[in-house]
Amino acid sequence: MTTINLKKADAFIKEAKKNVHPRYRLGYHIMAPANWINDPNGLVQYKGEYHVFFQHHPYDENWGPMHWGHVKSKDLIHWEHCPIALAPGDACDKDGCFSGSAVVDGEELVLIYTGHHLIDKEKDTFFQNQNIAISQDGLHFTKYEQNPVIAKPPHGSTQHFRDPKVWKHNNDWYMITGHQTEDGIGQVILFKSQNLRDWTYHGVLEQSDDKHGYMWECPDFFELDGRYVLMFSPQGMEPSGDLYQNLFQTGYFVGQYDYETNAFKHGDFTELDHGHDFYAVQTFKDDQGRRIAIGWMDMWESNMPTKEDGWAGALTLPRELHVSKEEQILMTPVEELKQLRKKEHTLLVDKLIEEPLSFDVTDDLLEIEVAFDLEATTAGSFGLKVRCGQTEETVISYDVNENKLSLDRSKSGKGVSGVRRVKLPEKNHLSLRIYLDRSSIEVFANEGIATLTSRIYPVEQNQGLSLFQSDGKVKVTHLKAWELEDIW
Ligand code: FRU
Repeated sequence: MTTINLKKADAFIKEAKKNVHPRYRLGYHIMAPANWINDPNGLVQYKGEYHVFFQHHPYDENWGPMHWGHVKSKDLIHWEHCPIALAPGDACDKDGCFSGSAVVDGEELVLIYTGHHLIDKEKDTFFQNQNIAISQDGLHFTKYEQNPVIAKPPHGSTQHFRDPKVWKHNNDWYMITGHQTEDGIGQVILFKSQNLRDWTYHGVLEQSDDKHGYMWECPDFFELDGRYVLMFSPQGMEPSGDLYQNLFQTGYFVGQYDYETNAFKHGDFTELDHGHDFYAVQTFKDDQGRRIAIGWMDMWESNMPTKEDGWAGALTLPRELHVSKEEQILMTPVEELKQLRKKEHTLLVDKLIEEPLSFDVTDDLLEIEVAFDLEATTAGSFGLKVRCGQTEETVISYDVNENKLSLDRSKSGKGVSGVRRVKLPEKNHLSLRIYLDRSSIEVFANEGIATLTSRIYPVEQNQGLSLFQSDGKVKVTHLKAWELEDIW
C-alpha cells in the first residue's frame, strides 16, 4: 500500500509544482514544491546531513490526509526536496501520518509518528496511536510490521493522543506525547523503551492548570545550558494584554528535572515567539552540540493568500537556542545563515537621526541588521518600515518609554492585519536582525530575547526601506542590509 501511495503522491506533486504561482514563493525558507504543509517533524542529523520532515497534504493547498514531506541539507541552509517519506493508508495510520520525531538508532533512521484514524468524519471523531518507520538510507522508510508501538493512551482520555517526541537518555529511549484527559485537561505524558518498539507508560510529565489550555500539541523536552526545557503548543489559552494573541500558542517552561522521580519543577509559561505566525516548534541537537529549533511559520485558521497560488505553509529559519540566567529562552538565527549574504549595503554608521530617511534597497530577499543606542536617543519611538510602497508598509517600531517592540502588518498587503507587541527587558541598546523573504518577516531582538515571526503578502513593487522616529532624535549605531541568496 505505502509504496503505491508514495509514488502517486510524488507524481502528483511534480505536476502540481508546474501550476504554482511564484509571486510569494519563499527564497530561503523550507516549503513543499506545491500544496499544503504544517508542522515541522523529525528534525535530525543523519550520516552527515540535516533532515527536516513536515506535515504535508500533497493533493491540495488545504490541510487533508497527512503525509510526511521531506527535505535534506548538508549545511542547514541549502535544502533539497526528497521523495515523500510517509503516506497514510495502512492499518496503523489509515487516515493520516500525523506529527512526530526522528532518532538515529545505530545505522538506522527511525521516524516515530502518530497514526490518525477517523471513526466518524462528519462528527470529527477519531482515535490516534503511535507508530514507527525505519530507513537505512535516510530516504526510503518502511513502516514497522508490528505497528502500532503504542495502540492507545494509558488512562482515561479523549481522542487526543499525538505528536511523539523521542530522545535517548543514558541507555533508555523516552517518548513524550500530547494528550487530553477525559476532563479536558491538556497533558504531556511520558513513555520508556529499550528498543523503540516496546514502550511502557511512565507517568505525566506536566499538565495544564486552568490557564494553560485544553490540549497540548507538539511537546518537546530537552536539557539545555544546565536546565530542562519543556516546549509545547497549547490550544485554548486566553489572550492577556500583549500575550497569547494568536489562535494557538507555542511556549515553554524552564526548570529542573529528575529522571528517577519524573518530577519537573519549573517557572511560568513563556511564549516563545511574539509574531502572528509561529506554531508547533520542534528542536534537535546537532553534532556541534547546538539545540536548534524550527517552527511552522503560519497559524491554524489564518488567511493564507498563497492558496490561490497553489501552495500554503512554510517553516521558519533554523534558530539556535540558549537559556539565559533569568531562565528565558534566547533564539538567534543559526550562524550558517550568514552564508546566504550576497551584496552588502552599508546604510548608516553612528548617526543621530532627526527626520525620516529612505534607502534605496530594493532586494526582495533581504537581511537587515540595525543597532540603536538608547542612551543617546531622545525620541519617544522609532523604527523601520520595510516593504514600503504607495499604500503598503510593514512597520517594526520601538516604544522607548514602555520598552515595547512591535510588528505592525496592518498594511502588509493581501489578507493580513494586526499588530503584535512584546516588552523587552530594559537595556541601553536595541539591536535587531530582520529576515525578509517574499512573504515573511522574522525579527530577532537583542541577542534573541524576543522574536516576532509573521507572514506578509506585499504587492510586488513594494520594496522600499526607511527609518523613522518621533518626538526627538534616534542614535543609530549601524544599519546594514544584505541581499540574500535564493536557494530554490
Ligand atoms: C499541530 C497539529 C498536531 C497534529 C498535526 C496534524 O499543528 O495539530 O497536533 O499532529 O498538526 O497535521
